[in-house]
Amino acid sequence: MENGVVRRRRRLTASLLLVAAVSLAATAGSLARIAGVETGGLAGSPAIELLKARFRRPDAVPFPKANPHSPGKEDLGRTLFFDPRLSRSGSVSCASCHNPSLGWSDGLARAVGFEMKPLARRTPPIMNLAWGSAFQWDGRAESLEHQARMPLTAPDEMNMTMEMVIERLVAIPGYRALFAQAFERPDAITAESVTAALATYQRTLVSGRAPFDRWVAGEESALGPDAKRGFALFTGKARCASCHSTWRLTDDSFHDIGLTGDDPGRGTFAPPSVVTMQRAFKTPSLRDLRLQGPYMHDGSVRTLDDVIEHYVKGGAKRPSLSPEMRPIALSADERHDLIAFLSSLKAEPIRVELPQLP
Ligand code: HEC
Ligand code: HEC
Repeated sequence: MENGVVRRRRRLTASLLLVAAVSLAATAGSLARIAGVETGGLAGSPAIELLKARFRRPDAVPFPKANPHSPGKEDLGRTLFFDPRLSRSGSVSCASCHNPSLGWSDGLARAVGFEMKPLARRTPPIMNLAWGSAFQWDGRAESLEHQARMPLTAPDEMNMTMEMVIERLVAIPGYRALFAQAFERPDAITAESVTAALATYQRTLVSGRAPFDRWVAGEESALGPDAKRGFALFTGKARCASCHSTWRLTDDSFHDIGLTGDDPGRGTFAPPSVVTMQRAFKTPSLRDLRLQGPYMHDGSVRTLDDVIEHYVKGGAKRPSLSPEMRPIALSADERHDLIAFLSSLKAEPIRVELPQLP
């Protein structure tokens, strides 16, 4: 009940925010028109500079007061993340699905879990989540600490209980030392410290500087003219930025974009009367997008061309469809420009130090 109230309040704030976002998007649209589609020609114009400022990267990673960063916690979190002993079978680690060499995902349309069972949803990449406010495609986890328990204890994922996780870790001498160092106390191996360390490590996973970031920071030659036109479309006529907003290219909110499939998504937590939350999923970040796909919560869209085609058509008409989803007319050149912009959000992969398992 209590939770329901909190959620409803959040939803209210969310819809107020949505109104704000829609009007922001409207200004963004007119700004892009002022700037002209050929933004390259208007480099440095006040309108385009204002637009760019909305996508500027923050300087520092935010860590919550309740779980501040420490190098010891980060190291421990990294070790746990790559350790398959955290699964019942002893063969699945977080990194089995969130594989750094596959953009912190698995390259599959839908994840494969315990005993090779296909799961219902695609594995999302886990970059830039320190700034997130709701986790999982349906937002059912409210923090990374809360989220970390879910794959550990899901029967079709790592299939453990938190008691079994603790029991296993306590039996490994190297872990006793790592936990004691990270939490500055003996007997620190608890469910809370396991999830705190995993969350801390994940908060340190931040996209590198992409060509788009260098352009936003003033390096005019960092983007080609097609990507600049793509940015104008993205923030203007194509309306992408009404949901893919901020430097992470997500509003961290939930929308039904009219895909096929009957997963209720956010609707699981909203009464049927909250129509726009039915079949709604969290807006994914578009940074470091795997350019070879597959895309969406169910991996149902194969290529970027198909993604653009979906937005051009506007998605399945139904009551829950986001009001931002309307057919858009885009020429072949404009589609190319949008994809050039999306590609400019890709940075060199960050360097990953693989831990030595104790
Ligand atoms: C079997 C594959 C698999 C394993 C193992 C796995 N995950 Fe995931 N992960 C997924 C899938 C699938 C989702 C999306 C689930 C959903 O939304 O219902 C997900 C979602 C997440 C998210 C939410 C991301 C977002 O943008 O909201 C985080 C964070 C995450 N996993 C971290 C972890 C951690 C930490 C571990 C290890 C303790 C782990 N995962 C193990 C497949 C996996
Ligand atoms: C109404 C909000 C909204 C608008 C407008 C919107 N998107 Fe999305 N976008 C989403 C949501 C929500 C998803 C995930 C949907 C799902 O999986 O069910 C998504 C998914 C995507 C994906 C797949 C990402 C991934 O990791 O799977 C891409 C690429 C994308 N959008 C690009 C765009 C582009 C380009 C535009 C403009 C033409 C656009 N979006 C407009 C909300 C929006």
